[in-house]
Amino acid sequence: MGEILTAVMRWIHISSVVTLIGGIFYGRFVMTPAAQALSADARATLDDAAAARFRPVVFTAITGLVLSGIYNFLSKPGHSALYHALFGVKILLALHVISVAILVTAPKNPRRSRQLFGAAISGLTIVLISAYLKGIN
Ligand code: HEM
Repeated sequence: MGEILTAVMRWIHISSVVTLIGGIFYGRFVMTPAAQALSADARATLDDAAAARFRPVVFTAITGLVLSGIYNFLSKPGHSALYHALFGVKILLALHVISVAILVTAPKNPRRSRQLFGAAISGLTIVLISAYLKGIN
Protein backbone atom coordinates (compact mmCIF):
# COMPACT_ATOMS: atom_id res chain seq x y z
CA MET A 1 0.00 0.00 0.00
CA GLY A 2 2.83 2.41 0.96
CA GLU A 3 4.60 1.67 -2.32
CA ILE A 4 1.48 2.50 -4.34
CA LEU A 5 1.01 5.83 -2.52
CA THR A 6 4.69 6.67 -3.07
CA ALA A 7 4.38 5.87 -6.78
CA VAL A 8 1.19 7.97 -7.08
CA MET A 9 2.84 10.93 -5.31
CA ARG A 10 5.91 10.62 -7.55
CA TRP A 11 3.61 10.52 -10.59
CA ILE A 12 1.79 13.66 -9.40
CA HIS A 13 5.12 15.44 -8.76
CA ILE A 14 6.64 14.56 -12.14
CA SER A 15 3.41 15.23 -14.10
CA SER A 16 3.07 18.64 -12.43
CA VAL A 17 6.72 19.49 -13.16
CA VAL A 18 6.37 18.47 -16.81
CA THR A 19 3.20 20.54 -17.18
CA LEU A 20 4.51 23.66 -15.40
CA ILE A 21 8.08 23.80 -16.74
CA GLY A 22 7.01 22.53 -20.19
CA GLY A 23 4.34 25.26 -20.37
CA ILE A 24 6.90 27.91 -19.36
CA PHE A 25 9.31 26.73 -22.09
CA TYR A 26 6.54 26.60 -24.69
CA GLY A 27 5.39 30.10 -23.71
CA ARG A 28 8.88 31.64 -23.86
CA PHE A 29 10.52 29.82 -26.76
CA VAL A 30 7.56 28.98 -29.04
CA MET A 31 4.55 31.26 -28.37
CA THR A 32 6.48 34.49 -27.79
CA PRO A 33 8.62 34.36 -30.97
CA ALA A 34 5.71 33.03 -33.07
CA ALA A 35 3.50 35.94 -31.93
CA GLN A 36 6.10 38.48 -33.14
CA ALA A 37 4.56 38.11 -36.61
CA LEU A 38 1.34 39.73 -35.33
CA SER A 39 0.51 43.42 -34.85
CA ALA A 40 1.00 44.78 -31.31
CA ASP A 41 -2.77 44.76 -30.67
CA ALA A 42 -3.30 41.22 -31.94
CA ARG A 43 -0.27 40.04 -29.95
CA ALA A 44 -1.60 41.55 -26.72
CA THR A 45 -4.99 39.89 -27.29
CA LEU A 46 -3.37 36.51 -28.01
CA ASP A 47 -1.00 36.80 -25.00
CA ASP A 48 -3.86 37.60 -22.62
CA ALA A 49 -6.04 34.78 -23.99
CA ALA A 50 -3.17 32.27 -23.66
CA ALA A 51 -2.40 33.51 -20.13
CA ALA A 52 -6.04 33.11 -19.05
CA ARG A 53 -6.13 29.52 -20.36
CA PHE A 54 -2.80 28.58 -18.77
CA ARG A 55 -3.79 30.02 -15.34
CA PRO A 56 -5.99 27.12 -14.07
CA VAL A 57 -3.37 24.66 -15.35
CA VAL A 58 -0.70 26.55 -13.38
CA PHE A 59 -2.72 26.49 -10.14
CA THR A 60 -3.47 22.77 -10.52
CA ALA A 61 0.23 22.00 -11.14
CA ILE A 62 1.36 24.13 -8.16
CA THR A 63 -1.12 22.36 -5.85
CA GLY A 64 0.09 18.96 -7.09
CA LEU A 65 3.75 19.95 -6.72
CA VAL A 66 3.50 21.29 -3.18
CA LEU A 67 1.35 18.42 -1.80
CA SER A 68 3.40 15.65 -3.45
CA GLY A 69 6.66 17.48 -2.62
CA ILE A 70 5.79 17.62 1.10
CA TYR A 71 4.87 13.91 0.97
CA ASN A 72 8.17 13.08 -0.80
CA PHE A 73 10.13 15.05 1.76
CA LEU A 74 8.47 13.48 4.80
CA SER A 75 8.67 9.94 3.39
CA LYS A 76 12.48 9.99 3.10
CA PRO A 77 13.80 10.91 6.58
CA GLY A 78 17.36 11.15 7.92
CA HIS A 79 18.88 13.68 5.55
CA SER A 80 22.48 14.94 5.55
CA ALA A 81 23.45 18.61 5.89
CA LEU A 82 24.24 18.68 2.13
CA TYR A 83 20.76 17.37 1.32
CA HIS A 84 19.14 20.09 3.45
CA ALA A 85 21.30 22.83 1.92
CA LEU A 86 20.46 21.76 -1.65
CA PHE A 87 16.80 21.23 -0.76
CA GLY A 88 16.71 24.80 0.62
CA VAL A 89 18.09 26.15 -2.67
CA LYS A 90 15.55 24.06 -4.58
CA ILE A 91 12.65 25.48 -2.55
CA LEU A 92 13.84 29.08 -3.11
CA LEU A 93 14.03 28.43 -6.86
CA ALA A 94 10.62 26.70 -6.73
CA LEU A 95 9.19 29.84 -5.09
CA HIS A 96 10.65 31.86 -7.98
CA VAL A 97 9.05 29.56 -10.60
CA ILE A 98 5.69 29.55 -8.76
CA SER A 99 5.64 33.36 -8.37
CA VAL A 100 6.49 33.88 -12.04
CA ALA A 101 3.87 31.34 -13.17
CA ILE A 102 1.22 33.28 -11.23
CA LEU A 103 2.50 36.68 -12.49
CA VAL A 104 2.72 35.74 -16.17
CA THR A 105 -0.79 34.32 -16.22
CA ALA A 106 -2.23 37.54 -14.77
CA PRO A 107 -3.81 39.83 -17.39
CA LYS A 108 -1.89 42.68 -19.08
CA ASN A 109 1.67 41.88 -18.04
CA PRO A 110 4.16 43.53 -20.46
CA ARG A 111 7.17 41.77 -18.85
CA ARG A 112 6.03 38.19 -19.53
CA SER A 113 8.87 37.29 -21.90
CA ARG A 114 11.70 38.25 -19.52
CA GLN A 115 9.96 36.70 -16.49
CA LEU A 116 9.39 33.44 -18.40
CA PHE A 117 13.08 33.33 -19.39
CA GLY A 118 14.16 33.55 -15.73
CA ALA A 119 11.64 30.91 -14.66
CA ALA A 120 12.83 28.55 -17.42
CA ILE A 121 16.40 28.80 -16.08
CA SER A 122 15.25 28.29 -12.47
CA GLY A 123 13.10 25.34 -13.58
CA LEU A 124 16.02 23.57 -15.27
CA THR A 125 18.22 24.23 -12.24
CA ILE A 126 15.58 22.71 -9.91
CA VAL A 127 15.39 19.58 -12.07
CA LEU A 128 19.19 19.25 -11.89
CA ILE A 129 19.22 19.68 -8.08
CA SER A 130 16.34 17.19 -7.72
CA ALA A 131 18.13 14.65 -9.89
CA TYR A 132 21.13 14.93 -7.55
CA LEU A 133 18.97 14.77 -4.38
CA LYS A 134 17.54 11.48 -5.63
CA GLY A 135 20.97 9.85 -5.24
CA ILE A 136 21.98 11.18 -1.79
CA ASN A 137 20.58 11.05 1.72
C1 HEM B 1 8.88 24.17 -9.71
C2 HEM B 1 8.89 23.39 -8.67
C3 HEM B 1 9.49 22.00 -8.60
C4 HEM B 1 10.16 21.28 -9.56
C5 HEM B 1 10.53 21.70 -10.98
C6 HEM B 1 10.51 19.99 -8.94
C7 HEM B 1 11.17 18.97 -9.59
C8 HEM B 1 11.44 17.73 -9.06
C9 HEM B 1 11.96 16.59 -9.77
C10 HEM B 1 12.26 16.54 -11.26
C11 HEM B 1 12.12 15.58 -8.87
C12 HEM B 1 12.67 14.18 -9.14
C13 HEM B 1 11.47 13.26 -9.22
C14 HEM B 1 11.86 11.82 -9.20
O1 HEM B 1 12.86 11.42 -9.81
O2 HEM B 1 11.12 11.06 -8.57
C15 HEM B 1 11.71 16.08 -7.58
C16 HEM B 1 11.77 15.38 -6.40
C17 HEM B 1 11.45 15.90 -5.16
N1 HEM B 1 10.80 17.11 -4.93
FE1 HEM B 1 10.39 18.52 -6.28
N2 HEM B 1 10.05 19.98 -7.65
C18 HEM B 1 9.43 21.18 -7.41
C19 HEM B 1 8.82 21.58 -6.24
C20 HEM B 1 8.91 20.91 -5.05
C21 HEM B 1 8.39 21.37 -3.80
C22 HEM B 1 7.59 22.67 -3.63
C23 HEM B 1 8.75 20.44 -2.85
C24 HEM B 1 8.49 20.41 -1.38
C25 HEM B 1 7.52 21.01 -0.77
C26 HEM B 1 9.49 19.41 -3.51
C27 HEM B 1 10.04 18.30 -2.91
C28 HEM B 1 10.66 17.26 -3.56
C29 HEM B 1 11.25 16.12 -2.88
C30 HEM B 1 11.34 15.90 -1.38
C31 HEM B 1 11.75 15.27 -3.89
C32 HEM B 1 12.47 13.93 -3.69
C33 HEM B 1 13.97 14.19 -3.67
C34 HEM B 1 14.71 12.91 -3.29
O3 HEM B 1 14.63 11.96 -4.06
O4 HEM B 1 15.31 12.90 -2.22
N3 HEM B 1 9.57 19.72 -4.85
N4 HEM B 1 11.29 17.39 -7.73
